[in-house]
Amino acid sequence: MKIIVCKNYEEMSQKGAALIADVIKSNPKAILGLATGNSPIGIYRNLVAAYERGELDFAEVRSFNLDEYLPIDPTDPNSYCAFMHENLWDKVNMKSENCNIPSGKSVEDAEAECRAYDARIQAAGGIDIQLLGIGRNGHIGFNEPADALLMGTHPVTLTESTLIANGPLFDDPAKMPRHAVTMGLGGIFSAKKVLLVANGKSKHEAIRGMIGDEVTTSNPASLLKLHPDLTLICDEEAYNG
Ligand code: F6R
Repeated sequence: MKIIVCKNYEEMSQKGAALIADVIKSNPKAILGLATGNSPIGIYRNLVAAYERGELDFAEVRSFNLDEYLPIDPTDPNSYCAFMHENLWDKVNMKSENCNIPSGKSVEDAEAECRAYDARIQAAGGIDIQLLGIGRNGHIGFNEPADALLMGTHPVTLTESTLIANGPLFDDPAKMPRHAVTMGLGGIFSAKKVLLVANGKSKHEAIRGMIGDEVTTSNPASLLKLHPDLTLICDEEAYNG
């Protein structure tokens, strides 16, 4: 594992964006695994700026997002789909058919949609670089701490810790869905490179658990130590507490 400790969020974002930009420059048809939340917003801002300067071309880039709430309509402003349109997809020259996110539309169809999503990732040839944030409890995607974790994309029940962390992001926190669909550990580990970004004191415990000696499903990010090409970019607060 490579660890890069930055002074602040902006430096973390610049370094994270540079790593993703290198992947796109070396392969204009790169397949990106993308995340939502506060952690990657600065990375997307830097990627959009590089595109606007003419340094990056997304015309042939494809992306697969990690997760989506369930149930939620993709046009709901609180959906992760809306987040991606706002922060990246609509700001660069990605083709809409190349922008993928698990469907959170219907609880009844969730299992079938998950199988179809995994098949699409496989058919695309797998992910070149997977961008991840980390939950305060060590979750990656919505793979929450548990006795066992699943390999494939699957529906999950969100934990209390995640409801508390993400509820305030909803116009009406009471309307936050209690479930989500997430890529599993198999999907994340199939990526050739994994980049996890974390900032702020609230992530310190999770980062300690991630980089410490234990590999445990009670901190799903700790399993990432087993990935052959993992980079952690975090700020001093997340690293030192
Ligand atoms: C989002 C996701 C989540 C977040 C995590 C951290 O797609 O997969 O695992 O990365 O909850 O969220 P932030 O970055 O908002 O602290």
